[in-house]
Amino acid sequence: MAARHLDGRIAIVTGASRGIGRAIAERFAAEGASVVVNYVAGSKAANAVVAGITSGGGTAVAIQADVSKRVSVDELIAATLARFGRIDILVNNAGVMITKPVLETSEDDWDLTIDINLKGAYLCSKAVAPVMIRQGAGTIINMSSNSGLYHPSAMKWTEYVVSKAGLNGLTKAMALALGPQIRINAICPGWIRTDMVEAIDPEVQQRILDETALHRWGTPGDIAASAVFLASDEASFITGELLIVAGGRGMH
Ligand SMILES: NC(=O)c1ccc[n+]([C@@H]2O[C@H](COP(=O)([O-])OP(=O)(O)OC[C@H]3O[C@@H](n4cnc5c(N)ncnc54)[C@H](OP(=O)(O)O)[C@@H]3O)[C@@H](O)[C@H]2O)c1
Repeated sequence: MAARHLDGRIAIVTGASRGIGRAIAERFAAEGASVVVNYVAGSKAANAVVAGITSGGGTAVAIQADVSKRVSVDELIAATLARFGRIDILVNNAGVMITKPVLETSEDDWDLTIDINLKGAYLCSKAVAPVMIRQGAGTIINMSSNSGLYHPSAMKWTEYVVSKAGLNGLTKAMALALGPQIRINAICPGWIRTDMVEAIDPEVQQRILDETALHRWGTPGDIAASAVFLASDEASFITGELLIVAGGRGMH
C-alpha cells in the first residue's frame, strides 16, 4: 500500500456530522488518521460517519460538544486525550450561516454566528495549543470562506462575512503567536453543495456559477483534499496562509 499522508495522526474535526466536515473526517481516516467526529445536535449522523469509517478499517469516535461554549470545548479536548493520548490536527470546521439582510437580523443572529464561527475556533485552538506545544508539533486548519475575503458578490450576509474575516485574522495572528511548534492555516471555500447552501435562491445560485471560472459547484471532497494537504508534512513550511478553493470565483 502507498504511504498514507496522515498515518498515526490524531485529528479532531469539528462539525463533522455533515457536509464539508464529514468529508474531511472520512478523508483523514482514509489517510491513516484516527478521527474525532464532533457534532452538536446530529448524533445519528455523526454515529453514521463513525460507522462508515470503522467499517472501512479506520478509527473514529463521535464526541458531542458545542464549540461556542468553553466548558464544552474543554470536555471535547479532555475526552480526545483520554481516548487517544495526543492531538496532532484540529480542524475548526463547525459553522452556521444566517441568510437574512443585515437590517432584518437580530442581536441573537449576530451572537450565534460570531460565537460558533469565530469564538468557536478561538476556544478550540486555545484549548489544543498547550497540548500541541507540549508535543512539540501540531497543526490547525480553520474553515473560513470566500465570504471573508471581501469579494462583493460573496458579501451578502453581514454576520457571516464578519465571522469569516475575523477567522482569517485569527489564523494569521495565532500562526505568528504559536509558531514554531504549531502551523495554522485557513481554507476559504467557494460554493460547495451542502445543507448550508441548499436554501439559497436559484437565481443567486446561477449567478455564482456564472462567476466561477470552472463553472461548477465545489464538492466537500474538493475541500477535504486541500485539508489533507495542509494537515500533512507536504505543507510543513506553510503557515498563516489562506488557501482559496473556489474554482476561480472571486480571484484575488
Ligand atoms: N457550503 C459552502 O458553500 C461553504 C462555503 C464556504 C465556507 N463554508 C464553511 O464550511 C464549514 C462547514 O460548512 P458546511 O457547508 O459543511 O455546513 P453544514 O452542512 O451546515 O454542517 C455544519 C456542521 O457544523 C456543525 N455545528 C453547527 N454548530 C455547531 C456547534 N455550535 N458546535 C459544534 N458543531 C456545530 C453541525 O453539527 P450538527 O449536525 O450536530 O448540527 C454540522 O456538522 C462552515 O464553517 C462553513 O461556514 C461552507
